[in-house]
Amino acid sequence: LPIAILISGRGSNMRVIAEQAAKGALMTDVRVVLSDQPTAAGLGIARAMNIPTEVLEPSKFPDRASFDRALLEVLQGYAPELIVLAGFMRILTPDFIGAYAGRILNIHPSLLPKYRGLHTHRRVLEAGDAEHGVSVHFVTEELDGGPVILQSRIPVTPADTEDSLSARVQQCEHRIYPRVLEWYAQGRLAFRDHHAWLDGKRL
Ligand code: GRF
Repeated sequence: LPIAILISGRGSNMRVIAEQAAKGALMTDVRVVLSDQPTAAGLGIARAMNIPTEVLEPSKFPDRASFDRALLEVLQGYAPELIVLAGFMRILTPDFIGAYAGRILNIHPSLLPKYRGLHTHRRVLEAGDAEHGVSVHFVTEELDGGPVILQSRIPVTPADTEDSLSARVQQCEHRIYPRVLEWYAQGRLAFRDHHAWLDGKRL
């Protein structure tokens, strides 16, 4: 399965996916890593792994629509069948999402539908939640609102801080994102009727 990974920063999810893919573990081939931030640390990781990289800077485009058109054009050159968002901090336009309908995944550091958007660890602490976690979901036009495919949970303890939660959630991310990719590559996962399906069963 040819994929493109979109990042904006550290790229730790991208690294884990690319490493497993390189070992032949995921039936997945990372064709390109694209960042909207030229300084994203993940770009260096991808280059060191000999994965083609692309940088597309939003400031060089007059508006969101033209950025997304350029994004589509660049990505099409690599013919990915799946777009994997891994810490990509930009909202995609409906046109972009429509071009890859049911073929864009995202990982979000909360137990969706709780805490869409930013600062999820802080909001979990403020709410006094007993558990927290991470979700992999299909991307739809609704921000962090597409159908959830897989979640991983962690308990929240009184000693937890944003940093400690972030670190533990990240470990979960690195476990579940590759698994979901493998399901997709195996043809076990689908997006249909606004729902995620695994092995023909609605999730
Ligand atoms: C992760 O926490 C992910 O859930 C969120 O952005 C972060 C990306 O981390 N969407 P990394 O760049 O993969 O290290």
